[in-house]
Amino acid sequence: MNPNRRVLITAALPYANNHPHLGHVAGVYLPADTYNRYLRLKGVETVFICGSDDHGVPVTISAQKEKSSPQEVVARYRGIQEKVFGSLGIEFDHYSGTSTCEGHAELSQQFFTKIFERGDIEERVTEQFYCDPCSMFLPDRYVEGQCPICEAEGARGDQCDACGQSYEQEQLKDPECAVCRGNPKIIPTKHWFFRLDRYEDRLEEWLKSCEGWRDNVRNYSRGIVREGLPARSITRDLEWGVPVPLEEAKDKVLYVWFDAPIGYISFTKEFFESKGDTESWREWWSDPDVELVHFLGKDNIIFHAVIWPAMLMGQGDFHLPTSIPANEYLNFKGEKFSKSKGVGVTAEEILELYDADRVRYYLTVVAPEGKDTSFTWEDFIQRNNDELSDVVGNFAHRMLTFTAKNFDSRVPHGASNSAFIEETLAVIKESRLQWDDALNRQKFREGLDRVLTLARHGNRLFDLAEPWKSRKEDEQRCGADLAALLEIVHALGVLLLPFLPSTSKKLLEAFRSCSPQPEKALASLGESCVLMEGEELHPPGIIYPRLELTSEESDLS
Ligand code: 2FM
Ligand code: ZN
Repeated sequence: MNPNRRVLITAALPYANNHPHLGHVAGVYLPADTYNRYLRLKGVETVFICGSDDHGVPVTISAQKEKSSPQEVVARYRGIQEKVFGSLGIEFDHYSGTSTCEGHAELSQQFFTKIFERGDIEERVTEQFYCDPCSMFLPDRYVEGQCPICEAEGARGDQCDACGQSYEQEQLKDPECAVCRGNPKIIPTKHWFFRLDRYEDRLEEWLKSCEGWRDNVRNYSRGIVREGLPARSITRDLEWGVPVPLEEAKDKVLYVWFDAPIGYISFTKEFFESKGDTESWREWWSDPDVELVHFLGKDNIIFHAVIWPAMLMGQGDFHLPTSIPANEYLNFKGEKFSKSKGVGVTAEEILELYDADRVRYYLTVVAPEGKDTSFTWEDFIQRNNDELSDVVGNFAHRMLTFTAKNFDSRVPHGASNSAFIEETLAVIKESRLQWDDALNRQKFREGLDRVLTLARHGNRLFDLAEPWKSRKEDEQRCGADLAALLEIVHALGVLLLPFLPSTSKKLLEAFRSCSPQPEKALASLGESCVLMEGEELHPPGIIYPRLELTSEESDLS
């Protein structure tokens, strides 16, 4: 392992008009947090950055509807987001926001100017819907009318969900503003377009070199680049956003997708500056020893794997993403979670019923890593019971109560050379290596499954050793076997740390007098016994009582 390895982890910036739902948590924030905790446990220095994506039309419209200001909308949702992430144990080093981060607007303007000066931005006059009563240009999804092809009502500005066809916006019949129901008109307006075609060769070469990436990210992005990249408009006629740094575009702002990813850099800068360090941020964004890892959902792939790298290439002084673990969707009854459509469960709702680790557990075992997956309450209860309660909780409880009863809650004298201890250590080592390999590849489901397998082995070895029998016949052997089994309980505590921080803490608390810190213990797991014999244990009691499906969950489904 490179001893200078450092990892900058980002999680996609949630829009500042969204309650984070479990789909977002399972696909983006939880895996990012798990990865961060894993790396820290391994002793790798990391910085974990996120914040709200404040600009764009939806925030403006929410503010208009509420007769408040975009700033108020942003402040309210940011509060909700921070609370939800905090209660799930998702611990960012810095959570900022694109409208409040000091230096964000300036850095975004610098990005624009540099690309502009390279000649990679061109201006074009475009035709767009404008609503007089709302005094604003309307993005296509805020214009509804009759489809010119299938005549369905409720077709969008330039495409119809009913027949799936797209068309020119002037073809839409009887267009209405989705906000005020007025009739928008089409008028010309000038915009600035990012010439992505000029980056195609470099992007193709770079993507080709990105080995080990998930196929859904690498192949998909390469396909898009090979098809040819049209120029993308990066300005908007809005008041809310980062002003375009051009004299002739004074009343326009940068497109929200242009300034949002720059937040990853401006938030890093803000983070270090808040600690009085004005220099380190640059290193974290340019030192080849730093890996840059972006966690996101599949709808964000093109922005992070194609457009954002082109923006970074256009700057020249920042490194490109090292990996982009993008997830598919966690669905609820076959539909995408959506707070506005009332589909699914919000993080706030589930946290009122269950503690964070139960939620973290289930969202990791059903993580949509390779394909879409589904959340169901029945499965939530069953996996918690069958796995967390019956396998992990039960094994730890059996070992600790047996030790309390028969060995005065002290680590018994072990035997260094018995076949049993050798087998136990081999099982621990194998699990640790597989856990490490899976997490290193950002395969979190697989990593957690390795920990469960270790607990299953623990139960099997306990039954095999039959200490309740040997206790009477050969107390020394009984103690030695138990000491070996306690090594497994302790290893579970360490290996669960990235996934279930509170459970891990509870388990490791039991060993507080007889084991080193988890960061120190990790590399020795399975190599030799790490627990100090004779030292006291502090059993936490039952960690995971079994759950019943109650009417409260049914009410939420
Ligand atoms: O899809 C979304 O929720 C966007 N707000 C993600 C932005 S990620 C990054 F670029 F900031
Ligand atoms: Zn309107």
